[in-house]
Amino acid sequence: MGGPLADLVFQSYGRCCKDEQFFVDFYTHFMGSSPAIKERFANTDMPAQRHLLRNGIMQLVLFARGMSDRKLRALGESHNRHGYNIPAEWYVLWLDSLMKTVAKHDPEYDRSLEKAWRDVLQPGIDMISDAY
Ligand code: HEM
Repeated sequence: MGGPLADLVFQSYGRCCKDEQFFVDFYTHFMGSSPAIKERFANTDMPAQRHLLRNGIMQLVLFARGMSDRKLRALGESHNRHGYNIPAEWYVLWLDSLMKTVAKHDPEYDRSLEKAWRDVLQPGIDMISDAY
């Protein structure tokens, strides 16, 4: 997948993550998408979690650009049924929440950029959710 689409997404993410509010808004959208998801973060240190997610999204983009899958395999382990126990359906809500947040924060957002984001991130997301 590395290549022009992954580059567009890498640049879009650069515009988004300049502003810490991007991650605040992501968790507002994500936790708003289901009470069960909100519940999972009830005892989480959110400033720390926002920082970890900043890195996690970067790992998804770097994987699409051809980087090693080692970090994503570790996320697959931590999120699987023995860890945070995150079922596959929730990754759909995760990606929809991310797209809502990108739409709000990237001034260059349009339908084709949204499709690029979805296509570029999906293989990395599958790598995590397939480890369930
Ligand atoms: C923790 C990334 C999807 C719930 C984490 C961490 C990262 C991360 C980097 C911290 C490192 C770790 O503990 O392994 C991602 C990425 C996702 C994703 C990139 C999508 C591809 C989800 C989904 C849920 C979720 C769908 C559903 C609720 C959690 C929870 C924690 C966590 C509960 C631990 C929070 C705590 O320490 O209290 N995630 N995550 N994640 N994630 Fe995810």
